[in-house]
Amino acid sequence: MNEQVDPRAIKTLTDVREETEDVGRNSSDNPTMGDVIHRRYSRRSFLGGSLAVAAIGSTVSPLALLAANRAEAADASQFNFVEVEAGVDETHHIAEGYDADILLRWGDKIFTDSPDFDPQNQSAEAQARQFGYNNDYVGFIPLDDSGEHGILVVNHEYTSAELMFPNFARVSGAKVQLGEYTQELVDIEMAAHGGTVTEIQKVDGKWQPVLDSEYNRRITPDTEMEIAGPVAGHDRVKTNADPSGTRAFGTLNNCAGGLTPWGTYLMAEENFHGYFDGSLPWGHKESENYQRIGVPGGWYKWASFHDRFDVSKEPNEPNRFGWIVEVDPFDANSVPKKRTALGRFKHEGCETVVNGDGRVVCYSGDDERFDYVYKFVTDGTFDEGDRGANMDLLDEGRLYVARFDEDGTMEWLPLVHGEGPLTAENGFESQADVLIETRRAADLLGATKMDRPEDIQPNPETGKVYVMLTNNTRRTEPDAANPRAGNEFGHIIEITEADGDYASTRSTWEVLVKCGDPSIAAVGATFSPATSENGWFGMPDNCAIDAAGRLWVSTDGNSKEKTGRTDGLWAVDTEGEARGTSKLFFRVPVGAEMCGPYFTPDDETLFLAVQHPGDEGLATYEQPATRWPDFDDNMPVRPAVVVVTKQGGGKIAQG
Ligand code: FEO
Ligand code: CA
Ligand code: CA
Ligand code: CA
Repeated sequence: MNEQVDPRAIKTLTDVREETEDVGRNSSDNPTMGDVIHRRYSRRSFLGGSLAVAAIGSTVSPLALLAANRAEAADASQFNFVEVEAGVDETHHIAEGYDADILLRWGDKIFTDSPDFDPQNQSAEAQARQFGYNNDYVGFIPLDDSGEHGILVVNHEYTSAELMFPNFARVSGAKVQLGEYTQELVDIEMAAHGGTVTEIQKVDGKWQPVLDSEYNRRITPDTEMEIAGPVAGHDRVKTNADPSGTRAFGTLNNCAGGLTPWGTYLMAEENFHGYFDGSLPWGHKESENYQRIGVPGGWYKWASFHDRFDVSKEPNEPNRFGWIVEVDPFDANSVPKKRTALGRFKHEGCETVVNGDGRVVCYSGDDERFDYVYKFVTDGTFDEGDRGANMDLLDEGRLYVARFDEDGTMEWLPLVHGEGPLTAENGFESQADVLIETRRAADLLGATKMDRPEDIQPNPETGKVYVMLTNNTRRTEPDAANPRAGNEFGHIIEITEADGDYASTRSTWEVLVKCGDPSIAAVGATFSPATSENGWFGMPDNCAIDAAGRLWVSTDGNSKEKTGRTDGLWAVDTEGEARGTSKLFFRVPVGAEMCGPYFTPDDETLFLAVQHPGDEGLATYEQPATRWPDFDDNMPVRPAVVVVTKQGGGKIAQG
């Protein structure tokens, strides 16, 4: 009966995750390159068909031809540090003159009474009191002006069972085969997901967690949450456990996120489809909805032990995920709220900015090949003097999806019920329907299919917004905003919101940089000539703007095989002569992706998240690709948050 091959049986979750994003589920016929020929880029970047680095013979180096420009751009860089040498090895590397200390590792205590990490005797109960797995988003909310005390919030995106559990995975031929799941293993996985809120403070010059803080909290897929905004109480989110359609249970696959100007923490629910299993009855009303978003993904065994993850038993449960969750980190008992007004899709993150008129604008990418770029504009305005007045600002506003035009302009298209095609005729009876099926609504509006939109970061000073497009090897038809077929290395788009108005619906855009190795002409990378052989990268993912207004980009997907380097954190100039110059500041140990990054408001501390270290090749608990960060044979490899400071103090990469 069940023809499905369990993907977990033949591949690690990281492989499955990457491949599922590689497929894409957007079958709408919105224009790609075939419809819009892009004179803007055709001369410079036409590559004709799919691009595989291995097949590229040409190695004419634009760098060699441009030594003079190179020196000029290097002098103009806004970043002052000596870059790290790119490469691959078992540990992390930070630019000279900086410290990179381990702040929190998987299994570390979050509360005074948390059990010590005992990897051979894990339990769900212990895990729920300890730092979770695979840290992705990191945010910092100051508790005073010292720059040395605040609340750290961290997302735990997913779990890697083969690296977490002893005696569970084994190598069989060229595959890693997982063992039999028990309820306890599933419950440990669940408790390792979600988020951590923890007070941290600098003591004797070193940051450390404050274990007895009233703010400390673990959020998991069991934490009770409110469904808020236009979808609250809708029939399509009612379940046996919640006949009101207003109380959700937990959050899943929290990738990146954001902070609001009023000091709350936004957790983006990304690949939530992977946790569901089972099949809907034939012709079920949610079939098209779930198909468009990939439910059920069958990545995990949770449905075998928890009925709500089996869509045949609880068909509406997947409609309760795919949202932005807002958490008040100042109250450990607060009920997190799913802000449905911001739409339901595979939210990579959610970064906010206060517009000139006081409205708050939130940017969010839908991370799947050929999906879209969104922003949300609140109806109400931010009140700096009254925190309480802001707490439900995200429940009312307008959601927009981006259409990038070939002439460098763009339009933000409103996803509003009753406008254009978003009517009952097309199956949208209300705004709740538009939000539950955000992707289908955006298809109908003619949004531009993008090369996997990841983090989207507004620069609060300049009216510019940076969109990380990580890659899309399945693109055969380039378009202006996604200018490379077989886009293996991704690119970054810079949006200029009209007149600095983040709420504007007509804006302009250009490609800041096409990523990859600029010394291979056919790759078509466009880093500035000042970018060294260490400075270029592929697969931009998360990013941050520091207090000095500079862009930092972290990556996901570089490896010895693909780019001869691990992932890392790169400083990317956006202004003047140096525009498009990139320099490597930090690199991760083998197998990891680089997440975070987040700067304290004084730019003196940088938080980075090293996610899934050691996850390379046929890695298992017993044989990871590295034992970072403990390098102890009795300890598994552990994802961890790293805190970076300048030796002797001072602002990072300045002066
Ligand atoms: Fe979780 Fe889009 O990376
Ligand atoms: Ca990401
Ligand atoms: Ca960010
Ligand atoms: Ca990614």
